[in-house]
This record gives sequence, C-alpha cells and structure tokens, in this order.
Amino acid sequence: MNHHEQSAVSRRGFLRAVGVSGGAGAMLATMGALGLAPSAATSAVPAFRAPTRSDFNLTGRSGARVVVLGGGVAGLAVAYELGKAGYDCTVLEARSRAGGRNLTIRGGSVETDLDGHTQRANFSDGVYFNAGPGRIAQWMVTMDYCRELGVPVEVFTNANADAWIYNESAGMTAPVRYRTAKADVYGYVSELLAKATDQGALDDRLSAEDKQRLLSFLQSYGAIGGRTGGWAYTGTSRRGYLEYPGAGNDEGVPLGAPPALADVFASNVGRYFAFETGYDQAMLMFQPVGGMDQIPKALAKAVGLQRIQLGAEVTGVTDRGGRVEVTYRQGGRDRIVRADFCVATMPPHLMARVPHNLGTGVTAALAGFPATASGKIGLEYRSRWWELDQRIYGGITETDLDLSHIWYPSSGFHGRRGLIVGYYNTGSNARTYSALTPLQRAERAVAQGVKIHGDKYRTELATSYSHAWDRTRYLEGAWTSPPHGTAGYNLLLQPAGRVYFAGDWLSHETAWQHGSFVSARTVVTALHQRVMAD
Ligand code: FAD
Ligand code: ALA
Repeated sequence: MNHHEQSAVSRRGFLRAVGVSGGAGAMLATMGALGLAPSAATSAVPAFRAPTRSDFNLTGRSGARVVVLGGGVAGLAVAYELGKAGYDCTVLEARSRAGGRNLTIRGGSVETDLDGHTQRANFSDGVYFNAGPGRIAQWMVTMDYCRELGVPVEVFTNANADAWIYNESAGMTAPVRYRTAKADVYGYVSELLAKATDQGALDDRLSAEDKQRLLSFLQSYGAIGGRTGGWAYTGTSRRGYLEYPGAGNDEGVPLGAPPALADVFASNVGRYFAFETGYDQAMLMFQPVGGMDQIPKALAKAVGLQRIQLGAEVTGVTDRGGRVEVTYRQGGRDRIVRADFCVATMPPHLMARVPHNLGTGVTAALAGFPATASGKIGLEYRSRWWELDQRIYGGITETDLDLSHIWYPSSGFHGRRGLIVGYYNTGSNARTYSALTPLQRAERAVAQGVKIHGDKYRTELATSYSHAWDRTRYLEGAWTSPPHGTAGYNLLLQPAGRVYFAGDWLSHETAWQHGSFVSARTVVTALHQRVMAD
C-alpha cells in the first residue's frame, strides 16, 4: 500500500467512525470541512448519507434482516436505502399495490371502500387522477428521489392569474379571475396604507425616509395614484380586459373601474392570496410526468418486487429480544416473518390496533395521532373547454363551496380530453362527500361546478372517480396532526426494542411525502448505526 492509499483508507476509517458516532449529518459536515463534500449548511434539507456495503468493510458485520410494515413511500424508502448496503428487507403491504397514499387512478383501477362501494375507473388512455399527492416543492427530498430514480418531473401549476375565485356566501354570482381580485385588493390596501402613512398615522413607526420608501413601494405594488390624486386606486390594466388589445389602433376593452372598496373587501377574495406564499406551496411546484405513482413504482422496482409482499395484512408484532416476529395474513393464510429489526410505517391509528408486546405506552402514543378526512374527485371531460372557452391553462380555482378547490390539469394542454379535480376538500367538507355514494358525490360536485363554469361542466363530462381517504381500507384517513413535543410523539421517535417507526406522521412535514422520506432516512441512519455498533 503506498502512502496515498494508506491516507485514503485512514480517512475512510475516520469518516466511518464519525458517521457511526455522530450520525450522517456529522459525517457530511466533517466531509465538508475536509473539502470532500459540500457543507451540510449549504443544503436546505437534513443531510443524509445512505448506508453502503463498504461501510461493513473490515468490520466483520453485514446488513441485517429487516421487515418493513407498510409499502407506502416511507416503507419503500426504508427498504431502498437499507438495500444499498445489502440489508435483507421484506416489505409487508396490505393493499393490492404499493404506494399507500401515493395513489394514481387510471382506467381499470378498481377499489372497494369501507362502506362496500366498488368503483372502477373508466378513464381514457393517458388520463390519470392523482387521488393523493399532487404537487412537490422544489426543496423537498421528494425531488431528489425523482432525480435519483429517473422519474421525470414537470411543472405543476399551483397558482394561475387566469384561474378563478368564487365566493358564493359573499353573494358572488359569477367567478372573478385571480388577476382581477389581486389588482383590486392590492390596490385598495395600498391606497389605505398610503393615505394613513401620508397623514402621519404611522409617524411613531416610520422616519421621513421610511415613509417615502413605503409610499413609492405602494404606488408600484398597488398601482395607485400619487399624492395629488389622494393615493386613490382606480383600477388599471392589471385587472384584465373584456377584450385584449389587438392590432393597429385596437387598445382593447379593459375591464374598467373596480368595484367600490367596501364591495371588494366584502367579496373576501383576499382570503386565498396567502396560500401561494407558503414555503411549501409557492411556485414553481412540480409533479412526476404521467402520475404521482411513478415514484412508488420506481422505488418498488429499485427495492426488488420480490421483496414486496402485497395483500399482506400485518396482524401482530412480537419483539423476542434477539429478533422480531411479525405475523400477517395473506391469501387467506396466516404467515410469519422473522427478522433482526422491524420498521413500522403503517398509519399510527391503525398500528395502534395491531397486537404487539411493545408496551401500553407505545399503543397509547400511536393512538394519539388523530386522522384527518380528505377527498378528491377526478372528472374526465370529452374536451378541454376550460382551456378553449375560458382560457384557464392549469392552476386552481378557489371557492367557499364545499368542493373547496378545483384543479385544472398541468399537462396535456390542447389535448383532446382532460381531467379536472372537481373537489379537493378536508375535514367536514370531505366527510359530507365521503358519506355519499360515488354517484351522489359526482352529482353534487358537478351541480356546484356548474355554478362556476356553466353547462359544459355537466354536458362535457365523460366519467368520474372519487376517493374518500377516511373510507379507504388500510388508511382510514388522509394525514394526521402529530402531537409534536408530547412524550408520546417523542417515544415513537425512538425504537421500541427492535421496532422502529417511520412515516410523515413522525415529521414536521406531515401530509407531504417529504415528511415520509426524511423520517425514513432518519430511521435508516439510526438502524444502520446500531448494526455497525452492535
Ligand atoms: P402511507 O402512504 O400511509 O403508507 C402506509 C402503508 O401501510 C399503506 O400502504 C397501507 O396500505 C399500509 N398498511 C396499513 N395497514 C396495514 C397492515 N395491517 N398491514 C400491512 N400494511 C398496512 N404529499 C406530497 O408530497 N404532495 C402532495 O401534494 C400531497 N397531497 C396529498 C393529498 C392527499 C389527499 C393525501 C391523502 C396525501 C397527500 N400528500 C401529499 C401526503 C403523502 O401522500 C404522504 O405524506 C405519503 O404518501 C405517506 O407515505 P407513508 O409511507 O408515510 O404512509
Ligand atoms: N400537502 C398536501 C397538499 O398540498 C396536503 O395538497
């Protein structure tokens, strides 16, 4: 071994020691200090170093046998990451396909819910409906998995100035475009603030320079007049046009003067504006090309389909000290799998019902995660009338109806057919729909949508499929509000003997796959450190 090889080996040994004692974050930071990797501080997400086979070099150890309960993205990610180091993983998934809440419905998809309603999707070729996740923020680890797994992504239009707002309870009889609503709200808010500032109402807060800067900002932000015009908002082309400008001398027909200030505030359109500023919802957002389930499909392939048992309902978990035994029911038969470790990624409220010997504290902690209801309906149309007639290419219409949101497709523009998400709601609105039959849900959603979009919302409809997460077998909820900071929550962050827990419910990004992935990574790191140190 020459000097160069010797120093490379000792550097590897040093890094391994840092990795085992300080975790992957410490290792990456150390690597950064050594000039081997970007500092962890440059990354917006928690640092992670996947275990590798070479971690076991010269240790006499090897990957352990691990049984993973639940084949959603968290369970698949655990098996995928541990598999990189040669761990022998088995994933037990009760449903007939992997992916869990990451569910894309296509023509031929069949599902029977807890109420016995069986739906078969009749969508056309190429038309799909993301019943669960639909969007990914750029900073999310989900994007890294898409890149690593070769899942192509495209822009998801989470905000669109040409989409609409419709507040029936405010007396609106027709929708208003986002651009118009924003122009008016920003305009009047700017007018009020400019007047107050200029009249000295904020003098105890603002210096003369501050006031000048604020006034100049408000003039551009709200498109308001100057001091001589009393800072008035009178409307500009930002509101949009009845007829857009044309050739020659055609200046177009602007929408004209805005409604009175009181009417704009009474319409309550401004209540939707904060959404698109959220760190998790701000544009640009992304989606996998061809459906969100491209992610679990790619993960399952990378894990190895032979490692994933489908239709395998976990019925019991016993920690025997030196190993874990998991019983499950598959194809009408009771089976058992023995492993060195177990990672449970099932929804916590369902895991709480599985008999185990991990202690009553664990059961109580698992039961402390409330399940939220959420539902969506996919409406396939024979034509893309929203693009052709109403000039809405993607984005979301916001309403105060119980359908809450209407999503337009972010791909397939100018194609023949397309799918609108006709409702996406949560809580009591979701339960209103989940209590109905699939046919009744479609009727209700369409009756409401017609108020906004007109007759084509009904006459062009080809077929529909609705998904009620609270009525979905093996999930019984959309997501949870984790009891962060409680003893129960913290208990489940630690292994119960040889059983670890993972999922978005054990993160601060619940209701996002990102939360599932980072939770999975945390458990992978902890489990690997334990195996390396045992
Ligand atoms: P799950 O997907 O819940 O996996 C748990 C698995 O355990 C399931 O496959 C289940 O079948 C299985 N299981 C249950 N009981 C048993 C049993 N007894 N035996 C064996 N297996 C069992 N995320 C985003 O990134 N972007 C979004 O836009 C987004 N929108 C969402 C919209 C909706 C309506 C919903 C419902 C979720 C949304 N999410 C979104 C969140 C995302 O779907 C989840 O964070 C993620 O898919 C959860 O993965 P998981 O593996 O942690 O859990
Ligand atoms: N994270 C989920 C969404 O954005 C709830 O729809």
